[in-house]
Amino acid sequence: MNNICKNWSTWLKKTRFSYMNDTQIQQTLNWLLLIRDKVLDLAELKDNQKIADFGCGTGLLAFGVLERFEDKVEIIFSDKFQDCLDECKKILTNSNTLNNAKFLQSDVLDIKLENNYLDRALTRSVLVHVKDKLSAFSEFHRVLKEGGYYCAFEPIISQNTRYYELLLPDKVSDYFEFKKAEKEFMENPDDPLVNFSAESLDNDLSQAGFSDVKINVELTASKYSATKEAILNWFISPPAPDQKTMKERFLDYFEEKKVDNFISEVQNALSDKEIIVKANTALIKAIK
Ligand SMILES: C[S@@+](CC[C@H](N)C(=O)[O-])C[C@H]1O[C@@H](n2cnc3c(N)ncnc32)[C@H](O)[C@@H]1O
Repeated sequence: MNNICKNWSTWLKKTRFSYMNDTQIQQTLNWLLLIRDKVLDLAELKDNQKIADFGCGTGLLAFGVLERFEDKVEIIFSDKFQDCLDECKKILTNSNTLNNAKFLQSDVLDIKLENNYLDRALTRSVLVHVKDKLSAFSEFHRVLKEGGYYCAFEPIISQNTRYYELLLPDKVSDYFEFKKAEKEFMENPDDPLVNFSAESLDNDLSQAGFSDVKINVELTASKYSATKEAILNWFISPPAPDQKTMKERFLDYFEEKKVDNFISEVQNALSDKEIIVKANTALIKAIK
């Protein structure tokens, strides 16, 4: 557990940027700020509210709340892992805005808050790491006051572009075997990263008791060209500290030699060519 905990803050601070150049890092940071603002705008925050950022990590949403409201709200930094909370505390100590901030080490499946406590529950890219989304929604519903909002941003990874959609069958050995494997692990109902869609989130939120649920799905198609090194990183960078890399997923099906050969064929087929990669995201608002 401790190991994962340490790794989560390391992943947020370093690993997720490891295959990017400075421009890409800056673009990603700008995109994160944009997402943060979309969630906070959607939440219609007001003075004197009690607000929690669940799965706060290094505090993207919670620090955004503090920037907007300073000491006029109660903000709870909450994460399953103490390591992430320590990271946020360090930043807060530096900026001397500690008085109205609270820290809560808590799993979203068992939130250590009383019923009807919060005005707003917020998450960004947290559900995607929780297998049982319905139970998490039931917990958000329980800790929110009547009329309170749950607002979130989540990537819908199951609907992102897959390798086999970028490749031509005659340019890659064993194309159909790799396609079958990729389809299987991208549609695995036990994998929190991919076991949901916008529709299933909508159903789960209603089932958890939320009365007014709005999910705005956005599809982005980015055109870019990747180097061989960047393509290798798609396979070997972990999507989260406790999750297998793409290469490791393929290794569940094939010998390493075959997977390495596939990776180098993908590199040859795609490097320095313009490719279009689509990604789905959901902006969620649900009212208790
Ligand atoms: C991708 S990070 C997002 C961090 C932050 N919300 C952000 O937008 O930068 C996912 C976060 O969810 C936390 N997390 C994962 N599973 C959790 C759970 N079951 N309960 C609470 N937090 C969890 C991790 O510790 C991590 O900080």
